[in-house]
Amino acid sequence: MSASKDLGGSDRNLALELVRVTEAAAMAAARRMGLGDKEAADQAAVDAMRGTLGRIAMDGVVVIGEGEKDEAPMLYNGEVIGDGTPPQVDIAVDPVEGTTLTAKGLPNALAVIALAERGTMLDPGPCVYMQKLAVGPLAAEVVDFEAPIGENLRRIAKAKGGHVGDVTVSVLDRPRHDALVKEIREAGARIAFILDGDVAGAIMAARPDTGIDISVGTGGTPEGVITACAMKCLGGALYGRLVAHDEPTRQAALDGGYDLDAVLTQDDLVRSDRVLFAGTGITDGALLRGVRFSGRGATTQSMSMRSSSGTVRIVSAEHTFTKFNAIAKFASLDTFDEG
Ligand code: FBP
Repeated sequence: MSASKDLGGSDRNLALELVRVTEAAAMAAARRMGLGDKEAADQAAVDAMRGTLGRIAMDGVVVIGEGEKDEAPMLYNGEVIGDGTPPQVDIAVDPVEGTTLTAKGLPNALAVIALAERGTMLDPGPCVYMQKLAVGPLAAEVVDFEAPIGENLRRIAKAKGGHVGDVTVSVLDRPRHDALVKEIREAGARIAFILDGDVAGAIMAARPDTGIDISVGTGGTPEGVITACAMKCLGGALYGRLVAHDEPTRQAALDGGYDLDAVLTQDDLVRSDRVLFAGTGITDGALLRGVRFSGRGATTQSMSMRSSSGTVRIVSAEHTFTKFNAIAKFASLDTFDEG
């Protein structure tokens, strides 16, 4: 398999290198867990992620990042990262997926990154939100994004070999989901509300033993692109539709050529089958364990995935700050004291 075919070459699994990036971001953010300052947690993770990502041999462009250049000094959309050697890739980052979860010490905050072949990730433009429906391999072929949610829940129940009461739905706890929640309850399924973090919600739907069968509702479009990368690695499915939350956004989207009626698949969100994904737990969750600090270091748990092989690796790591100075710089108490 050539380097371009495998985003790094047959001897190189770039997804494993990406784990070091999300580990650094997760440790930096986890230092700020529960301190009530989501900006500080995010900033620390951005600094750590940019520092480690810049050392990876690749020719990368940030497509999903921290925003426009004037708002985000690092990991801004369009930033070129790497040493310029192949592979040429699009990069999607979310150094803290769940900033409020981190600031409050609540479950399932993740540091995540995804890579795909250059020019294949959707640039969401003005479309901040999208409707989403994500399921795992078992239900990928049976759901229909345009069908009523009750019908989809019955189909998932059948695929599971049970009844609707056996199906658990992950939904962001937002007033905009009131009607959706009513329909889910009327259908008889169980709901696991999440306060934030629908990337984790979707991945849980595609992983065994998380207790989640489907993730639905309206969330961020950047998170949708990252989720699409994860689903391509996991064999799950993500469907969606861009949402204009106000009139100026609707106009800007139409002017930019975005189709607000189209049902998007993960192939529309990422037009490549060569995709890499890595994520590390910041706080504890059903998907991954969060960062634990000891006197001398920290432990992390991450997932590393490659769509070409379909292998999902769960990577536990023990970091010793005195030995790994680069990491200590991002996550040590000294750095924390400097703010
Ligand atoms: P953060 O940006 O604070 O990490 O929040 C992430 C998130 O909860 C996503 O998981 C989700 O897609 C989106 O925000 C939902 O947006 P909103 O909070 O505006 O409903």
